Amino acid sequence: MSTTITRKQLEEARLHRRTFAIISHPDAGKTTLTEKLLLFGGSIEVAGAVRGRKSQRSARSDWMELEKQRGISVSSTVLTFAFEDTHINLLDTPGHHDFSEDTYRTLMAADCAVMVIDAAKGIESQTEKLFRVCAARGIPVITFVNKIDRPGPSSLEILGQIEKEFSIEAVPINWPVGNGPEFSGIVDIASNQMHLFSTDSSDFRAAAVQRSWPEVLESNDSLEPTKPSPHRNSLVQSLKSEVLLRAAEELELVKHAGQEYERERFLGGQQTLVFFGSALANFGMELFLRGFIDLCPPPSASPPPKPTEASEGARDLPQFSGFVFKIQANLDPMHRDRVAFIRVRTGRFERDMDVTIARSGNRVRLPRALKVFGRERLTMEEAFPGDIIGVVCPGELRLGDSVYEDTPVRYPGVPQFPPEVFASIDCPDTSRRKQFDRGLEQLVEEGAVQLFYGTGRQRDAILAAVGELQFDVVQFRLESEYKAPSRLHRLPYAHARWYHCNDRQVAMKSPYGAKLVNDSFGSPAILIQSDWDLKQLERNNPDFTFDAIHETR
Ligand code: G4P
Repeated sequence: MSTTITRKQLEEARLHRRTFAIISHPDAGKTTLTEKLLLFGGSIEVAGAVRGRKSQRSARSDWMELEKQRGISVSSTVLTFAFEDTHINLLDTPGHHDFSEDTYRTLMAADCAVMVIDAAKGIESQTEKLFRVCAARGIPVITFVNKIDRPGPSSLEILGQIEKEFSIEAVPINWPVGNGPEFSGIVDIASNQMHLFSTDSSDFRAAAVQRSWPEVLESNDSLEPTKPSPHRNSLVQSLKSEVLLRAAEELELVKHAGQEYERERFLGGQQTLVFFGSALANFGMELFLRGFIDLCPPPSASPPPKPTEASEGARDLPQFSGFVFKIQANLDPMHRDRVAFIRVRTGRFERDMDVTIARSGNRVRLPRALKVFGRERLTMEEAFPGDIIGVVCPGELRLGDSVYEDTPVRYPGVPQFPPEVFASIDCPDTSRRKQFDRGLEQLVEEGAVQLFYGTGRQRDAILAAVGELQFDVVQFRLESEYKAPSRLHRLPYAHARWYHCNDRQVAMKSPYGAKLVNDSFGSPAILIQSDWDLKQLERNNPDFTFDAIHETR
């Protein structure tokens, strides 16, 4: 039943929400950090629950079986938790490069990205690509340098690496005192307080003992936060001379020679704010969480980006609108349904609400909106800007669709990212052809893989993916969910470019072996076999524009 809400209440709900995607190279500690954040927020009560849940879910859902077999995360999940009066939506993403398309799409639904870096390893190739996507999409990035309890490059070197590799200013919000076995705590730069590291505490939510950083530097007493032992005391004394002085020097350098935090530059993607900590040792979590809530922008209050003419004269209170950034079929094999994930952009969503799909103009009821926690589902009564709702949609909603209550609006589509591997696919069992076609169509609609069609008479279908494992998932799911066997034949293409030319009379000079195709939305594209061919294509066709990322969805 519909209840009224005031503008003030809606505004309060918006300002107390933070929606972010957590991204990293595999093994940097994303799962561990997520788990510690959920523990802090009380969404789970025991460490290991995220992994525990993962394996329970794998047992329930058969395509998740693939995740279990490979030890990888194939698709993004949504997790929510509260910290004090802030409602946090955490969009978890698969770390593996081959599933980065899913990560890229998830970023479209986030107001901020948290990039987890392994302090011992520094910047890794996957991190670099993700940073570039965030920069290209104008998504502010907060960096969490994890595993500071492990020996590795100095914190100054890590900052330098971030700045050099990503051409971005790295602004530390806190600073570690030592690393590896010498790690002694973290200094919060704004308050000049040192949070002392202790391995004693069994209470994961216990606040770290704090000391004024200048006092720590001046005094000769122990750094031990609790029960100092004579052995520890002497260790601390010897550390003080080296580790503390080094940290003090580094901090001076950072404060005087480093970049200053400028909100506009951070929001514009020219600055990343850097936190240090150890998710495994549960240290730096609270500093990070509080800092994150303070710095991460709340969902935008700005009017919809492309209001249509009918928006004129809209009612005073912002109406519900959102967009579909993810479709996931068969999350639960018991139901075999299709869930569209909608990011709420404006207004309040209420259960049983009627909405219009901007693409088709169809009016549909959203009867069962779900709050999806990982793979678990709870019915959702209401949602606010920044929230993610899961809607069971038998085919009505598509990836990139905008939906609205009354005030027409169309958000930018969810982009298709450049595929890097290509294959043809067929079904060797003719009696399962129908199921094969339906399965493939649904997987393409979900964005599990891209599909191109040859422009010739045969319209041969070509699967395209960012990584090989995406093909494995498609074949696995065709077999397990649609009982349709498939055969894959790799094709020699290396790149796809969507093209456009204003002058229809100009013929394209395509390199040898290239293939003209249309994507599943009918947009023309060309498949090319090598980097060299790509350069030739661009050089020989100055009247054409070639796009690596295409926004049709
Ligand atoms: P991911 O989701 O980014 O892939 O990484 P995940 O959290 O699974 O962490 C990868 C490994 O790094 C795990 O060890 C985890 O325990 C360890 N780790 C995470 N955070 C820290 C940290 O702050 N300090 C240290 N020293 N290690 C950390 P594993 O041996 O691969 O798995 P497990 O046996 O611990 O589960």
